[in-house]
Formats: sequence, structure tokens, C-alpha cells
Amino acid sequence: MCGIIGYIGGQPALEVALAGLRRLEYRGYDSAGVAVVVDGGLRTLRRAGKLANLEKALAESETSPQGTVGIGHTRWATHGGPTDGNAHPHTDCTGAIAVIHNGIIENFASLRAGLERDGHELVSETDTEVVAHLLEDELATVNASDGPAAAAGGAGAAGPGEEAAAAGASRLTEAFRRVCRRLEGAFTLVVVHRDHPDVVVGARRNSPLVVGVGAGEAFLASDVAAFIAHTRSAVEIGQDQIVEARRDGVTITDFAGNQVEGRPYHVGWDASAAEKGGHPYFMLKEISEQPAALADTLRGRLSGDAEIVLDEERLSAQDFRDVDKVFIVACGTAYHAGLIAKYAIEHWTRLPCEVEMASEFRYRDPVLDRSTLVIAISQSGETLDTLMAVKHAREQKARVLAICNTNGSTIPRESDAVLYTRCGPEVGVASTKTFLGQVAACLLVGLYLAQVRGVLYGDEVARYVEKLQAMPALVGETLATIEPMRALARTLADARAVLFLGRHVGYPVALEGALKLKELAYMHAEGFPAGELKHGPIALVEQGLPVVIVAPSPRGRSHLHSKIVSNIQEVRARGARTIVIAEEGDTVVEPYAEHLIRVPATPTLFAPLVTTLPLQVFACELALARGLDVDQPRNLAKSVTVE
Ligand code: AGP
Repeated sequence: MCGIIGYIGGQPALEVALAGLRRLEYRGYDSAGVAVVVDGGLRTLRRAGKLANLEKALAESETSPQGTVGIGHTRWATHGGPTDGNAHPHTDCTGAIAVIHNGIIENFASLRAGLERDGHELVSETDTEVVAHLLEDELATVNASDGPAAAAGGAGAAGPGEEAAAAGASRLTEAFRRVCRRLEGAFTLVVVHRDHPDVVVGARRNSPLVVGVGAGEAFLASDVAAFIAHTRSAVEIGQDQIVEARRDGVTITDFAGNQVEGRPYHVGWDASAAEKGGHPYFMLKEISEQPAALADTLRGRLSGDAEIVLDEERLSAQDFRDVDKVFIVACGTAYHAGLIAKYAIEHWTRLPCEVEMASEFRYRDPVLDRSTLVIAISQSGETLDTLMAVKHAREQKARVLAICNTNGSTIPRESDAVLYTRCGPEVGVASTKTFLGQVAACLLVGLYLAQVRGVLYGDEVARYVEKLQAMPALVGETLATIEPMRALARTLADARAVLFLGRHVGYPVALEGALKLKELAYMHAEGFPAGELKHGPIALVEQGLPVVIVAPSPRGRSHLHSKIVSNIQEVRARGARTIVIAEEGDTVVEPYAEHLIRVPATPTLFAPLVTTLPLQVFACELALARGLDVDQPRNLAKSVTVE
């Protein structure tokens, strides 16, 4: 939810932090702030609202803080409204410590009460501020004892030179460790101290933190996008670990102080991938990138002899053969991808497949065992609801396969196996290209399961594979002819509501269309199975109401097609303005569609890869026509790291 960057090196920390925050702003944009260590002092500036407000305040201030150690934060508010006072960084009573935080400290109320009893003055409504004050106390305790200095090589507390500095840094890290052990909940924390200008310290529990390592510099951030312009060498930080970053490297320990190895990795994309590339909005760029994103998801997964290869899985073929039930857990758009997967997995494998919102999964005590395969779908790999569902599934001995877009994120690490969607960075808050990647990855898993379990013949798998390989081109074709949908959306900017109807795999597509419109255009939008309409929702239909209908192919499933034609007539008869998404050659729907949007013909189960596109464009264009920011819709954040 919040975006975090910490820097230590030779460059101006303020500039590095602001540039990083620009790339992290998709994570939250309620307020922003920075703190820079400057000549034995700490300069902090915080502003409510988007990062631009902070930049304006910095431009107007007489001197901008110069220093090569600093932190920056962009906030999605949880505890306390989006005000200057609640913006991060937060400081302790002495003003020596500055802390930034992503997550929720669940025991903050009792910690705050204790601190106030001890005479601390807390000035914000946030949970984060307790960390600065706890660290103030713990550091005083550590400084008063010799233990940590001895651990750092026996250096004295106050001696001059590098040894003393190292001892001081070690003391700060030890005090921070003690604080982390007292915290409950989810947190990424990054801390700087005015008297320790040679170190930035970070910690994580159930919340993202990656380290970037450059020449003579190090970065701590929520996402590699924050430092990709400086280095593509990253290190994963594990659960309940602390990282001490210095100019000459990083040291990672667990919360008990034991040294641990971080997993280094190379970021496979560069800074240009995280730029708008000439588009006015990231969302428009990401919509246009879908043919390539889909091709990247599929690349290397379909071997020459049409066998499906899941090259990053750590489960054996036998494990997949042993599966007797599949659960899919995910949130939002990823959940819709899971709903589509259910149709494919059940049809191809004959295994029962349930799809569940991750936020509900563990609370209803699902029946799981060693033979259950849980597929966790997440673009960010950090969604806390999904992460908790993964942990619950593994506790119950189920096997977990993650479908994820973000290398080095938490959900893949906590799973038994992972299939990366490789769509590249997605910055727009609304998921677009990664939805296509998720659907494609799910189809691959479905085909793989069918293949290893021997439910589909080799030639059947080969036929599906051939069709799947043709999908990126069909996605490109759909986007090339999508202008009529754009034009139509612009005429509907004043509509009060929009309904979306679908059947079979068109139903999750309808849900996705409605979600996109809600989050981008702030309009009432609902998705329904078309057959369910008569059981209540049809009462919503009134004269002129736009109703988008995702029509199934008339080929092969004509019984379904004729049903939806009836449903279109039902809403038309009640005055609805019908917008029908139908495949090329479907002439039957023509008389009933006030607006007809064509998509290429595809196999039934692959249709969402093209039918979703007009709905993304519809929501985006309608929101733009209403004058809204489609990259940063109100109240939202790209990565939801709180429950
Ligand atoms: C949809 O446009 C949103 N971005 C949201 O519903 C998202 O899909 C959901 O929060 C899950 O995120 P994840 O894929 O990163 O887990």
C-alpha cells in the first residue's frame, strides 16, 4: 500500500528518494514525505496529498536538504487521515530518528499507551509513530549496555573513527531488532538516525522490502522500480529479517540477530519499462502492451513437441498427479482470472475446482489436505489477504502454486512452486496486462494438469497449444480495431450506472468490466451472470441504462448463445441501451445490439483474452471523459498489503 525508499551512497539522497517515490506513487498517494541526514541533523518534510505537493513545498523552501543518506515515503492511509501530521516519516521525541512504514502495527494502541505513560509525546494518529519512540527507548537501553558493541567487534561506545561508527550502527540495528520483536502485524520499516550517517536500517514482516546494491550505494525499497534507474542487482529480504545497508554492502540478520543470506537476483527489465513511453497514462501504455505481455507469459512454456513446461515449479509431476481437488485464491482482478481458470481446469482435468476470495478463505476453515492444490494468483505477490490464504493452505499441508508477476515477492517465496507471468512492471492501479498474463498462466496450469494426469490426449493438448500461441496476435488485432469502443465510452460519461452481463467464461469477464468501471470512473457498475438477471437485478434496468453483454461464441455452444440472445432481448424490452461484445461472424446478435463491438473468434475457453479488452478500454476512456486520473484512482493502491 505505501511506497518506501531508503538510500545510502554518494548521490544526493533527496533526489534519489524523490525519483524513487515517483515510481512508487502507484502504491499510495494520500501523502508523501522525506527525511535526509544532514551534518549531524535530520531534515524532514511531509505533505498531505500527492507527491507533487511535497515537491512544490521543497521547491518553495529556501534550502533543500543536502545529504547522501535519506528515506522517502508515499502513503495510503490506514491509521489517521491523509494530513501533513500523519504523513511519514515519523520522528521520536528527540528528533534524532526518522521512520517510514508500510503495513499495520496491530498492537500499536497498547504500545502507544505504554510510551505515553513513560512520558513520550506522540503527535500523530498513526500506528507508525510508536516505532520511532520505541526505538528511542531501546537505543538508550542498548547504549547503556556493552553487549552490542562487543558483538560488533569489541569497539567502545564513543571512540572516534570507523570502529566507533560501526559500533554505533550495530547498536542502532540491535535496538531496531528489539523493537521489531515487540511489534505485531505486518510491516516494512526503514529507519535513519541523525547520529548514524553510515547506515540505513530496514525490516520486514508480511510486507515487501527489496534491497538494491550499486557501486558504493544501497537502496531499500518496496519495489525494484524505485531503484531500477540506478542498479538492476537486487537482494530478497526474507520474512522477519533486518537489513543494515551501508555504502560498502548490506548485512542481513533475523529478528534474533543471527546472520542470514539474502537471495541475490538480477532484475530482468530496465527503467524504460517503468516509464510511460509516450502515453499520457500508464494504463493506456499497459493496455497497449498486452500482446507482448501475453506472448511473454507463454514464452518457453510450450515445448517444441507441444508439451507444457512449467519451468519454475518445484512440485513434481507426481505431485500434480496426486491432486484430487483444486482451490484458487486471489483478490479483485486476480480473482476474476481464477474464476475463468475454474471453467478450464474442471473441463480439462475433471478435477473439482473452487475459486475463493482470499480474504474469506482461511476464516471459513476450508477442507484441505496433502492432495489439495491451492493456486494463489497475485500480480504484486504482496497482497496480504492472498499471502495469509497461502500460509493457511500450507499449514493444512496443501500444496501451493503461485501465479505471480513480481519476482522476489513474498507470495512466491511462501509457496511450493511459482509460475511467473512475466508481464513486466504494471504501474497503473487498474490491472490490465497482468490480468491477461494471469488467465494465460492459469490455462497453462490447466493444460499441464490434464497432460500429466493423462486426461487429455497428446494431440488434444497440441491443438490447444497451437491456439494459445495464436492468442497474442488476436489480442493485437482486437486492440487495433477498438476505436468504436473508445468513441462510445466518451458518449456515456454522464451515465448513472452500467450493468455487465455474461455467461460461462463471459461471466467473470462481466465482473471484471464492472470492477474496472467502478475503480476508474467511480460509477455504479455491476456484473451478473445473464441468466441470474431475472432473479432480481433486472429491476435495475430502466430507460437508457447502458448494459454491456459479453456474448459467447455461437459456434459449438449454441445453446449458450441462444440463451444470451434472449437475455439481450429481455433488457432491451425494458429500455436498456445494449452494447454487445460478440465475435466476428456472429450475425444473430446484430438486430438486438444497439452498439456492436467485434472481437476475433477464439476457442471458447480463450475468449476472455479478447473479450476483456473492450471493457478495459471502455472503463479507461469513460473515466478520462469524466476528467479522472486513471493511474491513481481515489482511495486505492496498487498493492494491498493490509488485511
Ligand atoms: C484491479 O484493477 C486491482 N488492481 C485489484 O483488484 C487487484 O487485482 C487486487 O488488489 C489483487 O492484487 P494482486 O494481483 O497484486 O494480488
